Amino acid sequence: MSTPEAQPENLMEAIVSLAKRRGFIFQSSEIYGGFNGFFDYGPLGVELKKNIRDCWWNDMVRRRDDVVGIETSIIMHPKVWEASGHVAGFTDPLVDCKVSKNRYRADQLFWSPVVVDGNVVGYVSALESENTAGELQTAAEAFKRKKAIQGPLAPVVVKDFTEATEALYALIPSPATGEPGSLTAPRAFNMMFQTNVGAMTDGSSIAYLRPETAQGMFVDFKNVVDTNRVKLPFGIAQIGKSFRNEITPRNFIFRSREFEQMEMEYFIHEDADWAKVHEEWISWCEAWLKSVGLPESHLSRYSHPKEKLAFYSRGTVDIMFKYPFGVQELWGIAARGSYDLTQHAQASGKPQEVFDEATKKKFVPHVIEPAVGVDRIFLAVLTAGYAEEEVTDEKGNKEKRTVLRLSPRVAPVKVAILPLLKNKEVLTNRAKALYTKLKRNYAVQYDDGGAIGKRYRRQDEAGTPWCVTIDFDTIEKPGDTFTLRDRDTMQQKRITEAELFALLAEHVY
Ligand code: GAP
Repeated sequence: MSTPEAQPENLMEAIVSLAKRRGFIFQSSEIYGGFNGFFDYGPLGVELKKNIRDCWWNDMVRRRDDVVGIETSIIMHPKVWEASGHVAGFTDPLVDCKVSKNRYRADQLFWSPVVVDGNVVGYVSALESENTAGELQTAAEAFKRKKAIQGPLAPVVVKDFTEATEALYALIPSPATGEPGSLTAPRAFNMMFQTNVGAMTDGSSIAYLRPETAQGMFVDFKNVVDTNRVKLPFGIAQIGKSFRNEITPRNFIFRSREFEQMEMEYFIHEDADWAKVHEEWISWCEAWLKSVGLPESHLSRYSHPKEKLAFYSRGTVDIMFKYPFGVQELWGIAARGSYDLTQHAQASGKPQEVFDEATKKKFVPHVIEPAVGVDRIFLAVLTAGYAEEEVTDEKGNKEKRTVLRLSPRVAPVKVAILPLLKNKEVLTNRAKALYTKLKRNYAVQYDDGGAIGKRYRRQDEAGTPWCVTIDFDTIEKPGDTFTLRDRDTMQQKRITEAELFALLAEHVY
C-alpha cells in the first residue's frame, strides 16, 4: 500500500481523474452526458475487476472443499422477491424537495435546531458528509448572523430526517434551497428495478432485476443438494450483477445502481455454534482482503446493534474500509438463521429441509452469509494503492510520479516487456519471444514507445508490479538475463527467464 504522506489531499478527485485518464472507469453513456449511478469499465479496469473476481472465486470456491459455485438468472420469478420480503420491505426512506425537485434519502439528510440562549430560533440542514456536524454548526452560525440574533449559540445536535416529528417537516430547510417549507414527509421507496416479461405489459407480467445475488442460492438450494455430494456445513457461492434504484448514488463506484456482488451462503446445522462459524467467516474475509492488498490499518469492524437487526437475524458484522470520504461498509457478514429457506419453503410449498442421520430428523439449515461488492473492493484497492511521489530520473532531475501500488494478485498488467530500442531487431526479437511466452499465462504488455523512463511511468500509473527491459547485455553477455525493475522500490536487478516465471508464480495466484 501507499503511505498516507504520498497521497494527495483530494485523493478521491485524483483517483477519479486517473481512472478516466488511464481507462479504468468511464461514466456510462458519457457522450450523452452520462447516466447517474452507472459506470463502464475500460481496458485496464476490466482486467482489475476480473482479477478481483478470479481471486475471490479461486479462494472461495476452487480452493475450498466445502463451497460450490452457481450462476443464476438475473430476472427470477417475481414470487422469489415476495417470499424474500423484498417486494414489501426493500425500501429506503425518500424525501422530496418540492421546489428543487431533488430527492434525498431521509437517513442521509441531517438537521439540527438552532438554539440561542436556550431558545430554538430555527433549523439548519446538511447532507451526510465526512464532517456533517461541522457543516451543521457552520450553518447554525450563519443562520444566527443572518437573523442578527444575540446570545450564546448552543452546539448543534445532529439528527437525521427519520428522527424528525411531523411538525418539523415544514420547518427544516431543504439542503437545495436553504429555505424551509419544501421538504415532504419521508415515504418508503422500493429500490427494485421493475420490468415486464413477455409481450403483455400489465401487472401480471411485472418482474424485477435482482437487487442481490443471494436469493439465487436459496432458490437453488435443493437442486444443489440433490445433484452434488455436499454435506453440512457447506456453502453455495455466486458472482454476478445486482441492481438497485438507489435514491442517491454517490462516491463514484461506491454506491451505484448497477453493481456486482460476490456472495456466499454457508449452510450449517440448526444446532451448530453459529457464532463460532460467523466469527470464522469474518476472519476469513479480513484475511482475504489483506491478500489482495488492502492494509490492516484501513480495515475495521462494525457490529450492528441488536435492536436494529431484522427479527430473523442473529448478528451482522460489517468489515469497514477507510475510503477518502469516510469509513464505510465494504463487506457484510450476516447470520440469517433459517429465514430465507423457510420463507421459500412456505411460498413455494416445496420443503427445503435436509435429513440428519444422527437424529433421524429433518430440519431447515441455518445460514451465514458473507456478501461483498466487487466495485467497492475495486475502489478500495485504488484508494489504498494510489500515491504521488517525487523521484529523481536517470539524469538527476526531480519529477513527480503517480503510482498505483496494487497487489500483483489484482494488478491489471503483471509485467511490461520493454525492448531498450525499438529499431534494433536483436532486442525486439528477444523481447517479443518473451512476451509471447508470458502471455499464455499472464496479462502482459509489450511497450516499445518512448524513453525507458517514460515507459516506466506509464506502467507505474497502471499499477504494473514489474517491468522487464531487454538490453544489449541480454544479447551479448552469457546467461540471457533481463533487467527487472520493481514498481514500488524502483530497484533494478538482473534475472533469468526461469527466475521471472518463478517470481510470477509466487506472487500471482
Ligand atoms: N444479500 C445481502 C446483501 O445484498 P447488502 O449489504 O445489501 O447485503 C452486500 O450488500 C454488499 O454489496 C455490500 O456490503 C456492498 O459491498 C455491496 N453493495 C450493496 N449496495 C451497493 C451499491 N449500491 N453499489 C455498490 N455496491 C453495493
